[in-house]
Amino acid sequence: METNNIEHDLSLAVHELSVAYEELSLLYRISEIYASLSVDEICARIIDEAINTISVQTAAVLFLDEKGEKLYTKAYRGAWESKREFPKDDGILWKTIQAKKSCAFCKIKETEYSGYIPMISSLMVCPILGKAKTVGAIAVADKEFGEEFFSKDSKLLMAIATQAGLAIENAFLYSELETLLVGAIRCLVKALEATSYWTAGHTERVTEYAMGIGQTMDLESDLIEKLKICSLLHDIGKIATPKEILNKDEKLSDEEWIEIKKHPIIGAEILVELKQFKDVILGVKYHHEYWDGRSGIFGLKHDEIPIMARILSVADTFDALTSDRPYRRKHTKEEAVREIMRCSGTQFDPAVVEAFLKWVNLQRRVF
Ligand SMILES: [Fe+2]
Repeated sequence: METNNIEHDLSLAVHELSVAYEELSLLYRISEIYASLSVDEICARIIDEAINTISVQTAAVLFLDEKGEKLYTKAYRGAWESKREFPKDDGILWKTIQAKKSCAFCKIKETEYSGYIPMISSLMVCPILGKAKTVGAIAVADKEFGEEFFSKDSKLLMAIATQAGLAIENAFLYSELETLLVGAIRCLVKALEATSYWTAGHTERVTEYAMGIGQTMDLESDLIEKLKICSLLHDIGKIATPKEILNKDEKLSDEEWIEIKKHPIIGAEILVELKQFKDVILGVKYHHEYWDGRSGIFGLKHDEIPIMARILSVADTFDALTSDRPYRRKHTKEEAVREIMRCSGTQFDPAVVEAFLKWVNLQRRVF
């Protein structure tokens, strides 16, 4: 009898331990994977984690709108209506939001919530709380084999929601900071361009083209963000180029070209303090390198040239060719595209040119 008790206690302890371990390892895993992701990516991961860890058929992340009056679907998988919104009511979702802690679960068809969310039988909801305010809620529905939700499931969902709240709040803060940074850079660049008639609007156009190429190449979202900053800053070194050269109405002399060619390295020196943007600095520094190594500036070639610099090189040249210069009229867009194709494999990375051509074809307005 005593042995039986010990066995029972032991198996209970083992069970408790395994639940605690599962919860802890989940916390560890999701805190790792949420770092440096965008809000959309975090939501997609939350859905994955919820579906895989709790073994449910449906999961949805709901965000609270700015006025705090409506919950709207931010991400979902399974039997959920994609655009479903929930105005404030006394339903299970809002009750959970207002309680600000723990999960609520119910067999939805057997309660007054029947029909609240069609196609769902049982539902479990947990609020997503940030440090400063409530972000929204995560809802999971219908376990894989039709079982009920147990307290172990609610513990797991709470673990996911806790990490998600912090991660989403951080991602919001990060994106606000980034918007601020990009805004400040735009002001700086406008101030620079205002000093030279010939470069007005150049940076914004190059940024648009570079982003188009980067997206066509399916670059990761954080690289795309850095590419935007890199494009906006690529000519910042021209701040040190004598204004008489930048505004000269005739063809430049060899000495003047030597002065102009210093701007990538000066740009990199100006930006050296942006330690978190090391690859942005390298993109600025090498944006006039040639794919075949014959730029005559640093002599890097092929993959030695950072991808951001290779993209900028094409975007920058396309804008230069299609803009008036003091010593020549602008080329047509068709002529510029032909010139870029002609220099594929010599001045430009062929893979970047290919992406550029695809993007140009999509942008009928370019023609
Ligand atoms: Fe440049």
